Order: sequence, then C-alpha cells, then structure tokens
Amino acid sequence: MSGATRFLADPTEFAGKRALVTGGTKGMGEAIVRRLAAGGATVATTARSPLPGSQTVDLFVQADISTREGVDKVVRNVLDRLGGVDILVNNVGGSSAPSGGVLALGDEDWQHTIDANLFAAVRLDRGLLPGMLERGTGVIIHISSIQRRLPLFEATLAYAAAKAALTTYSKGLSKEVGPRGVRVNTVAPGFIETPAAQRLVARLAEKAGTDQNTARRGLMDSLGGIPIGRPGRPDEVAELVAFLVSDRAASIHGSEYVIDGGTVPAV
Ligand SMILES: NC(=O)c1ccc[n+]([C@@H]2O[C@H](COP(=O)([O-])OP(=O)(O)OC[C@H]3O[C@@H](n4cnc5c(N)ncnc54)[C@H](OP(=O)(O)O)[C@@H]3O)[C@@H](O)[C@H]2O)c1
Repeated sequence: MSGATRFLADPTEFAGKRALVTGGTKGMGEAIVRRLAAGGATVATTARSPLPGSQTVDLFVQADISTREGVDKVVRNVLDRLGGVDILVNNVGGSSAPSGGVLALGDEDWQHTIDANLFAAVRLDRGLLPGMLERGTGVIIHISSIQRRLPLFEATLAYAAAKAALTTYSKGLSKEVGPRGVRVNTVAPGFIETPAAQRLVARLAEKAGTDQNTARRGLMDSLGGIPIGRPGRPDEVAELVAFLVSDRAASIHGSEYVIDGGTVPAV
C-alpha cells in the first residue's frame, strides 16, 4: 500500500541536497525516496533485489546491508558517485524470525535481526558521518519501532530488542555529533501497512489457521488497538521524515517521533 502521495511537496525544498535512503524499493523506504525526490533532492537507495522497473532513482546500489561487505559497497558507491550525503535515512529493518515465542529463536535469528536492524545503521553512519562532520552539516534519521517500548513476544522479540538498541544508539550519537552540526533523530512507527506488515499478517494467519483479515485485526488487538482505527500509511511516515530532515526542523535533535495512530497507551 505505497501508492502516490496525497501530500504536496515544495519541489525546491531539498534542492542541492544528496540523500541516501536505505531499503527504498518497498514500503516506507520507497515512500521516503519518492517524497525526498519530490522535494528536489538527489536520492540514492539500496536493496538486496534489483531496482524495480517502475522506479527511478539517481543512484541505486544493490547490496545486502545486513553484512559488512554490503555496507562497504554502498558507502563506496555513494562517496564515488555523489561525494557524500547531506541526508541519511536508515530505513532498512524488519523481522523474519519464526513465531513461537522466545524459545523458538536461535542464535542465528538473533544475529540476523541485530545485523539488519542495528548494525546496518551503525556501519552506514560510521561510513558517511566523517563527510558530514567535515562539512559541519548533515541529518541522520533512524527508523526504529514502537516495539522498542511495546515489545511483542510471539514472533518479534529479537526485533523489539534490536530496535530498542537502535533508539538508544541514536540518542547517544546525537549527543556526540550535534555540537558538530549533524542532527540525529529517530522515527518510531506503529503498524504501517507495508509489504513487510502484510507478510507478517500472512505468517500470523498461517500459524493461527485463520484468514488475513482476522489476523490483521488480531495484530491490531495485540497492540492494544489503534485508536484512529487503522494502520498508518507509508506516505504518512515519509511526510514526517521529510519534515525532520528539512530546515523547518533545525532545532529538533536527539528526539524520537512516534507515528502510530495512538497505539502506545501511555505518555
Ligand atoms: N511496517 C511496519 O508496520 C513497521 C512498523 C514499525 C517499524 N517498521 C520499520 O520500518 C522500516 C521499513 O519497514 P517496511 O515495512 O517499509 O519494510 P519493507 O516493506 O519490507 O521494505 C524493506 C525495504 O528494505 C530493503 N531491504 C530489506 N532488507 C535489506 C537488506 N538487508 N539490505 C538492503 N536492503 C534491504 C527491501 O528490499 P529487498 O527485499 O529487495 O532487500 C525493501 O526495499 C524497517 O526498519 C521496519 O523495521 C515497520
């Protein structure tokens, strides 16, 4: 559910800015790529699969960024072709761990989840921050999850723990690099209707032997309900990210923005 955006963009807002959005071929990443490009940015993205024929970007690097080699390839290409980035959106993440609770998760599930949700961002930041610090300017966004404080244990406990680490890392990084001109913030989505979310619903339906609508409703219920009555949309997350990376958010730093339709039940 990542159709055309319903929001108007100022086509000059990001003119002259170079952005890297990881995982920009599907879901939220795809919506963020589209939104930043609509704002005039030069946009690079990455995915493990080839760039879909329907999509155009200024630079595409095919790589698995849950590995050290994959991140190195992305950093090398971005530095060679763009000379660096002004905006880095660490969007790649997710969980493919089996359901069945904590005892169903082996070392490999934990390691892969942490590689994709934490190390990909840590390594990319490490590769692209030096240029930002040299120029004394830059913006980094980490896409975390409300699960970092509302962990679900059925299938995504490793994911929730990895996102908690990502949010904590993001806060610490902001303290270090803020005084040197680089802004760092986290966005924590709730249930957003992306292909990954749809795959999770399908897995839960299969496990419970129900249809997908029942599983989807069950997922919403397992979160304690979504007060606005629906999951969020990728273009709504993209709009928040576009605001946070823009100069309109120049004094927003070291924060986490939740976008969950009211799911998290406490302040
Ligand atoms: N959807 C939700 O409800 C939800 C809620 C909270 C947080 N989030 C977070 O939001 C972010 C985006 O989620 P999404 O639902 O939009 O995901 P998605 O629809 O599955 O899209 C993920 C994107 O990342 C790419 N990707 C995945 N693993 C990769 C890897 N190892 N290396 C390079 N590219 C990779 C995918 O392409 P390939 O498959 O071709 O690699 C795709 O372009 C994730 O960090 C997720 O944890 C999602």
